[in-house]
Amino acid sequence: MSAKLSQQELLCELKTRVPLTMIKAGDGPFKGEDWQKYLPTEDLNKKFENLKRCAVVSSAGSLKNATLGAEIDDHDAVMRFNAAPTDGYSIDVGKKTSIRIINSQLVHDEKHNFLTDPLYQTGVLIVWDPAPYKQDLQHWYSNPDYSFFERYMEYRKKHPEQLFYITNPVMQWNLWDIIQENSLEKVQRNPPSSGMQGIALMMSLCGEVNVYEFLPSKRQSDICYYYQQFNDRACTMGAYHPLMYEKNLVKRMNQGTDHDIFHYGRVTLPGFRNIHC
Ligand code: C5P
Repeated sequence: MSAKLSQQELLCELKTRVPLTMIKAGDGPFKGEDWQKYLPTEDLNKKFENLKRCAVVSSAGSLKNATLGAEIDDHDAVMRFNAAPTDGYSIDVGKKTSIRIINSQLVHDEKHNFLTDPLYQTGVLIVWDPAPYKQDLQHWYSNPDYSFFERYMEYRKKHPEQLFYITNPVMQWNLWDIIQENSLEKVQRNPPSSGMQGIALMMSLCGEVNVYEFLPSKRQSDICYYYQQFNDRACTMGAYHPLMYEKNLVKRMNQGTDHDIFHYGRVTLPGFRNIHC
């Protein structure tokens, strides 16, 4: 275990060990006509070629009254998470959604109305599932944490024009390895949060990534989400996800200033193409 890598070394670890890996038709058990039909054939990085500046918007309560909307929308692409809305909150979080990362629970649970809620119908969708640590695809396929494969296909049938990817769990566990190797304590073996996965993903696609309210600003509070009245410190500090460790890692990779974190909750990371290892 080492917590001593320099910023450049850390960035290189991410770049070399966490490449963009989406499930493609033909990968392990993802075979047959249906998967051929429903999994996107277009590479995500082909779809988003040459993005320069991207924004990753956490769902933290500290985005309430942040008035960052115009700044966020000024990016070439904006990533949001799970059920995070823009309608009614655009002054604080902006209007644009280019990519939305969702977890398999949201797809699986009836109560989220995933198949019909227009919230999910903007931008590219990417779903991830908390697969067990580094199991092979076949094992995961027959036993996902939330069985979401059927509803994935149903969604694709209903919305064939919208790109919708499934992440290969290898990506989240490669990221987890880096978090563990660069933390002094033993990190719970649960996948990184959607937020952390999204940050790594956007670093693959963009020249520069600004992350908002992942490292909390002066507006930090116990409010879980900017879009709900619900208090839980674990949303910011972590319980299931190794959020504290993720945030420490992101702080070490930040090329922006502490002033930017304090006032805007903003961290600036270079995209992989601008990291020279
Ligand atoms: O909870 P959910 O995964 O939908 O939130 C999106 C992401 O925003 C989280 O995965 C986490 O990275 C980040 N977040 C945070 N602090 C909060 C709430 C969410 O850092 N209070």
